[in-house]
Amino acid sequence: MSDSSNKKKAGVVGYPVSHSLSPKIHNFWFEQQGIKGEYDLLEVTPQEFDVFLRSLHKNGFAGVNITVPYKEKAFEAVDELSEEAKKIGAVNTIIVKDGGTLAGINTDAFGFIENIRTALPEFVFKGKTVMVLGAGGASKAVIAGLLKEGVACIKLTNRTRERAEAMSEPKVQVVDWDKKEDALKDADILVNTTVLGMDGQKPLIINLENLPKNALVTDIVYKPLETCLLKEARGRGNQTVDGLGMLLYQAAAGFEAWFGVRPQVTEQLRMRVLQV
Ligand code: ATR
Repeated sequence: MSDSSNKKKAGVVGYPVSHSLSPKIHNFWFEQQGIKGEYDLLEVTPQEFDVFLRSLHKNGFAGVNITVPYKEKAFEAVDELSEEAKKIGAVNTIIVKDGGTLAGINTDAFGFIENIRTALPEFVFKGKTVMVLGAGGASKAVIAGLLKEGVACIKLTNRTRERAEAMSEPKVQVVDWDKKEDALKDADILVNTTVLGMDGQKPLIINLENLPKNALVTDIVYKPLETCLLKEARGRGNQTVDGLGMLLYQAAAGFEAWFGVRPQVTEQLRMRVLQV
């Protein structure tokens, strides 16, 4: 029997995919758990995407993560969808079942909530008012997570208002991008889900003057780890949670779904992931 036949295999599918930190995370866990495994970068063109997914079973994959630009394409391509993936409209993790059935799940909402829960174990989401900046794919997962936790109200603002409007529902009110500062005054949580503030992107310009000092501020951007938003919030006394944990916890849920073991998110892992 070849050595590779009993290897646990997974990977991340994207185009391009070389930027992905997922191999560092999953290969750290393979080592930590003493599992003989392999997690690869899988660069797949749009033309190859469907055929590639259908080849996962015969190639011995337990599953794959899906990253930009394929989270919605994967949603269409899989055979089964979890309730959460249906709510979010995107798949970030595929489980290859016995016989080759592809099950699509989304662990981003879990990652977002678990990151805050672990950083601030006493934090209560129920009944809170949340201001969410951005209405892209990440925002959908963040909002699904917040609604599941029982927040009372979400104020959603986006540069392109129509995208936010498409996500409106009884607990989600759309606020004009130009009026976002006014809406901060009764926020218990402020979340940035836009790309603004990320290395190589434009800065996020927002005046926090109206934000209550006891509000929690969190950013899904983790490069830099402390974004200007978090730095400013911390400087004025708000509690802050950085975005790296969201990446790590969404990965942990995938690893568990494929290999049956919930890996730990440790400081050592955070350090490893932050090493260039
Ligand atoms: P993701 O899946 O990471 O959320 P996305 O779907 O491309 O990525 O969403 C990116 C988010 O960043 C959107 O909310 C986007 O706003 P638009 O819908 O108006 O594009 C936001 N964003 C990107 N560049 C921006 C900018 N210069 N100013 C304000 N918002 C911006």
